[in-house]
Amino acid sequence: MTVDFDLETLQRAEAYRLLVSLVVPRPIALVTTINNDGLVNAAPFSFFNLLGSDPPIVALGIGRDELRPLGLKDTAFNILQNGEFVINLVNDPIAKAMNICGTEFPPNISEVEMAKLLLLPSAKLTVPRIAESPAQLECRHHSTIEIGRTRITLGVVVHLHVAEQFYEATTKRIHTDKIGMIGRMHGRGFYTKTTELFEIPRIPFSAWQQSSEEK
Ligand SMILES: Cc1cc2nc3c(=O)[nH]c(=O)nc-3n(C[C@H](O)[C@H](O)[C@H](O)COP(=O)(O)O)c2cc1C
Repeated sequence: MTVDFDLETLQRAEAYRLLVSLVVPRPIALVTTINNDGLVNAAPFSFFNLLGSDPPIVALGIGRDELRPLGLKDTAFNILQNGEFVINLVNDPIAKAMNICGTEFPPNISEVEMAKLLLLPSAKLTVPRIAESPAQLECRHHSTIEIGRTRITLGVVVHLHVAEQFYEATTKRIHTDKIGMIGRMHGRGFYTKTTELFEIPRIPFSAWQQSSEEK
């Protein structure tokens, strides 16, 4: 038995509440952008993911905000203006700062200052990155698709920075298990840690065949 919802007729806010309670955990992009006056903006987005690797492509789902000019959040407006953004990934130590950046400050206030985060220059972009973030993805805007009240913004990752304590140069491996990335859960304030790991090795077809023959 299931409880069913017709999402074609259900109120949007209710559909949002149901879906974000189920599609969990969602990674969080703390996105830095810059406006025409050089003010750096930072805002978290959990409608975010890595969608491909050739080229490396990321997507952000940015909702409309009718109280802003053109209905665009500062992040969307700045990307439209100069085509650059940095995705600063979020781990446990910067969770509270990330949440401060989610406060809807007016465009003349920098969330980075409010959250007391440090900025570092990027390698290829004018938009700076956040020093405290364990990894930063420099992105160039690829395209934006507007669907209803959401802007799906696609970016190509052109440069990657990883904090050196999380990178093993000899094996060329990232210590994902030590980074402590957080994920967004349900409701307006729930998150999860990524510390409880388990492994399921992939099964090559030849091994699958062999094991079924042995049975
Ligand atoms: C953890 C978290 C995740 C969020 N995810 C999104 C999202 O995916 N899309 C969105 O439009 N807003 C999202 N928000 C709300 C924005 O961060 C918020 O509207 C912010 O003020 C926008 O800032 P800006 O106007 O500087 O771009 C999220 C907020 C938090 C705290």
